[in-house]
Amino acid sequence: MTKPKVIMHNSITLDGSFRDIEVDMELHYGTASSFGEDIHLVGANTAKIGIEMFGGLPPEEDDDLRKQERDEANPIWAIVDSKGILKGSLHVFRRFEMCRDVVVLVSASTPKDYLEYLKDRDYDFIVTGEKHADLKEALELLADRYEAETVMVDSGSSLNGALLEQGLMDEISLILLPLLTGGETESLFANIGKMKHIELELLKCEKLEKGYLWLVYGVKRSSNK
Ligand SMILES: NC(=O)c1ccc[n+]([C@@H]2O[C@H](COP(=O)([O-])OP(=O)(O)OC[C@H]3O[C@@H](n4cnc5c(N)ncnc54)[C@H](OP(=O)(O)O)[C@@H]3O)[C@@H](O)[C@H]2O)c1
Repeated sequence: MTKPKVIMHNSITLDGSFRDIEVDMELHYGTASSFGEDIHLVGANTAKIGIEMFGGLPPEEDDDLRKQERDEANPIWAIVDSKGILKGSLHVFRRFEMCRDVVVLVSASTPKDYLEYLKDRDYDFIVTGEKHADLKEALELLADRYEAETVMVDSGSSLNGALLEQGLMDEISLILLPLLTGGETESLFANIGKMKHIELELLKCEKLEKGYLWLVYGVKRSSNK
């Protein structure tokens, strides 16, 4: 099995903030569309925060219990959620017109009632790993099952860090906001302190409107692990 190309895409201020910032959605997702993603990979915390950002949790309706008929050109949304924190909420994503359907990446530690919730609603899920999903195996299975070549990661530091640490990240795409927040910042990659220096290669540097910059770097050490 082959691993798909993995590109993370984040908006970040000039002083390194990526949480609680006002992301320009048009620029963020407009630039991301050029990657032609087959899979939109989202971390559970990011998804949970997204629900609040996009207007809260509507009650589930009959139509939410089954797969929707969507154009295959739309990406699959693969949500990493081994703890089942999105139980009762996944219909928010299934309703997105640009989401072909939701696939959940779980592990051996995932609560059984979450798996029942997924089965009852006909969500595909992939079980790998013990505590967390085994990202390498899950990516390979996604590529195989959905003929996916490109994965775009829409996530914060935990999932970004895990993918980088495991040598699974191929490109880092950043929308740089012309803004200093002065707030406390954390690394965009959890566990970066434990990693060796990682060399990057500049692939794109584009000036966007309103003083934004779009930077794309290739990760020189990737998918070799
Ligand atoms: N500015 C931007 O562009 C942008 C974009 C997205 C998100 N964000 C921000 O980022 C923040 C959320 O970031 P976060 O780091 O808390 O959450 P996150 O990115 O949603 O990551 C959490 C996910 O990572 C998974 N994970 C962590 N370590 C793993 C490992 N070793 N192997 C496999 N999976 C692993 C967890 O899996 P389990 O399910 O197993 O726990 C969980 O599903 C929010 O504030 C959000 O607004 C910003």
